[in-house]
Amino acid sequence: MNVGAQWILRTSEDPLLPEKAPQAPAHKAAQTPAAEAAARTRPHAALRPAVRTGAETRPQATPRAPQAAARPSLKPVPGAAAAPAAAPLRPAAGSQAAQAPRAVPDAALVAEVRTAPWERIASIVNRCRACMMADTRQHTVCADGAPGCPMVLIGEAPGRDEDLQGIPFVGKSGALLNKILEACGLQRGRDVAIVNVLKCRPPRNRDPRPDEAAACAAFLDRQLELLAPNVIVLMGRQATLRMLNRTERLDALRGKIWKLSIAGREVPVVVTYHPSSLLRNPVDKEKGWHDFLFARDILQHGAGAAAG
Ligand code: URA
Repeated sequence: MNVGAQWILRTSEDPLLPEKAPQAPAHKAAQTPAAEAAARTRPHAALRPAVRTGAETRPQATPRAPQAAARPSLKPVPGAAAAPAAAPLRPAAGSQAAQAPRAVPDAALVAEVRTAPWERIASIVNRCRACMMADTRQHTVCADGAPGCPMVLIGEAPGRDEDLQGIPFVGKSGALLNKILEACGLQRGRDVAIVNVLKCRPPRNRDPRPDEAAACAAFLDRQLELLAPNVIVLMGRQATLRMLNRTERLDALRGKIWKLSIAGREVPVVVTYHPSSLLRNPVDKEKGWHDFLFARDILQHGAGAAAG
């Protein structure tokens, strides 16, 4: 796969460029982040599992211990820097989300999924009635891709199109995501698997509540264990909250390598904007594209090299 050529040949017609903002001069794009410089100066190897070196364990930043997300299989990296406790995102009092009955995980399904093979997860999720979305969903939405995809993207929750088709990111935000991946030389289903924090569509696409994310946690945890990715991209605030327990602005979290320990393996993690947010704020598209180049660089050269 010659991913380098697609990077070098970007033009002002590039669909990922901000629609109204002026195009960044080529030299500017080459300056930051470190991944871009590396992408220009190194020949691109075919996507391969990152070779894990000592340098990879020297991230630019490390997440604190996830609180809501603390589970046996998915641990923060030992020695991760402590940070002030993040305030959970809460629905406004009186809102539809606040009034919905509390999600209660089904202990039997949680136990079942913990040891389930990849092929069984979707049928277990289909039986889940832990929250009110079980009454409103058309389809559960489990994953696009399978174990063997070295990069895993984590989104928030299915939207209308995904609910209708049962596949993540098939609507407008999915079309943009596909363009970004294509521009990075990454292919869904081969290089990239996609999963969501929630497996069902929240009514009117509202934000997932903490209890809903917690009720769905066992499914995502098992998916990550089985996918065993070499790099994870968190798309948007909800995925970042769920996996890193951080609530800062995404601008403050992107451009760094975070780490998660998944089934005893330390996995580099990159934060980026949600594709829906890029549709609303096209000026951020170029930054989002850089985040994916950064993740691709981690995949190709390892976290230590990508962090530069
Ligand atoms: N937004 C998400 O976060 N996930 C999807 O699958 C679709 C839209």
